Amino acid sequence: MPHDVFRGKNIALIFEKTSTRTRCAFEVAAHDLGMGSTYLNPTDSQIGKKESIRDTARVLSGMFDGIEYRGFGQAIVEELAQYAKVPVFNGLTNEFHPTQMLADLLTIREHFGKLQGLKLAYLGDARYNTGNSLCVACAKMGMDITIVAPEKYWPDAALRKTCEEIASQNGCRILCTEDVMAGTAGADIISTDVWVSMGEPDEIWEERIHDLTPYRVDRKVMDNAGAQAIFLHCLPSFHDLGTGIGRKINEKYGLTEMEVTDEVFESSQSLVFEEAENRMHTIKAVLYAAL
Ligand code: CP
Ligand code: NVA
Repeated sequence: MPHDVFRGKNIALIFEKTSTRTRCAFEVAAHDLGMGSTYLNPTDSQIGKKESIRDTARVLSGMFDGIEYRGFGQAIVEELAQYAKVPVFNGLTNEFHPTQMLADLLTIREHFGKLQGLKLAYLGDARYNTGNSLCVACAKMGMDITIVAPEKYWPDAALRKTCEEIASQNGCRILCTEDVMAGTAGADIISTDVWVSMGEPDEIWEERIHDLTPYRVDRKVMDNAGAQAIFLHCLPSFHDLGTGIGRKINEKYGLTEMEVTDEVFESSQSLVFEEAENRMHTIKAVLYAAL
């Protein structure tokens, strides 16, 4: 059904890091709603180099009805929001990835028919955007979350404390463990993310491979969770040798798959492509609600 209810409105899409899903989701959502969109990347715009975030916010507010920002520190998107006169959407920072959570929650609800009372286990680096935001999302939705990783990869204490407070009001728990089998037993959702995130230096691959290989999502993890469990991943994912980085890591370290095995990624328990499609539906809903 046509729903181009925002004809004449426009959104600016700032991407200081690369993207497939988030960019396409915002562009298709905006187009379906009848809006125009302008993509800005750091090479083609003045942002950061010749113009401050504060000035950029005020310039773009005069031309656009909303601004999406993907980049580095959370403080940057917050400064943008502080000085913009239009809604600002966080398309991923180092610390958080909120629009990804909406897609994850929709995918989970489509599958289980509910959110409250479900158990999610997240394996891998949980100090970064996806792990942090999953703690927030689960706490808010009344879902138990268990971070399964070496202790140094657990979300920072301040975020855990905030999430624990929210979780206690919603009857759920945030747990952290280094024990893969204990942490994933009975989980309804098994989730992971890349071991090295955008913006992190190449030098850390070796340490991450060493620390996180025991936390790879494989058949044993899925079987331990149970037949009811689904697998989610925000993507992109290193599950085979189909990527340039994957092949370089293979040459250097001999790995053919990283945070998830190809077997699990391609299995019927994996809902990663439904999850990716839901980026567009949920971002469309966010634009509709905000504008
Ligand atoms: N999941 C996600 O944000 O993907 P992109 O980096 O492709 O936008
Ligand atoms: N943690 C990943 C998420 C990508 C969508 C990164 O920041 O690269």
